[in-house]
Amino acid sequence: MNGNKTLIAYVTKSGVTGENAEIISHILREHYGLEVNLVNLKKNSKPDLSQYDNVIIGSGIRMGMWYGKANKFLKNDFKDKKVAIFLSSGTAGDLETYQEAITKYINKKLTKNPHVKPVLTEAFGGRYSNFDYTDPEKVKAWAIELGKKLNV
Ligand SMILES: Cc1cc2nc3c(=O)[nH]c(=O)nc-3n(C[C@H](O)[C@H](O)[C@H](O)COP(=O)(O)O)c2cc1C
Repeated sequence: MNGNKTLIAYVTKSGVTGENAEIISHILREHYGLEVNLVNLKKNSKPDLSQYDNVIIGSGIRMGMWYGKANKFLKNDFKDKKVAIFLSSGTAGDLETYQEAITKYINKKLTKNPHVKPVLTEAFGGRYSNFDYTDPEKVKAWAIELGKKLNV
């Protein structure tokens, strides 16, 4: 390992998690000089983790659940890699229900997966029917915070 290889492994259905993965990759490359690979888990569900120092996992939420391939990916042994998680969720985009989204989709998930100890997590707003709760500026700010916590 060369100390800066970073994987962003994500699953998206309505596009938001994919867009946010792109934003995060740009920030990590430009601000921190990290070598970042983006992998859509629907196309490659088993990327070779051995080459990475940092693993960032992204998933959308539907019907109260992470997307299946992201959920499966979370079962990996991330060993001593730095791990981070970001989600796209309708309820996370509304201030009144944001905390509920964090509790349901992040905190409970981590309780069930104690082998995963992320350095940073966040749930961003999503897009569905006529609603658009996306917030690229929030994603950029999060990626800047994240870069400070990763192996660089
Ligand atoms: C069929 C359907 C079910 C959804 N269920 C939930 C839900 O249970 N909780 C939630 O917070 N958002 C829910 N959403 C909103 C999604 O989280 C939102 O579309 C988000 O952008 C999905 O991520 P993606 O764009 O990367 O696929 C749902 C959206 C759809 C279309």
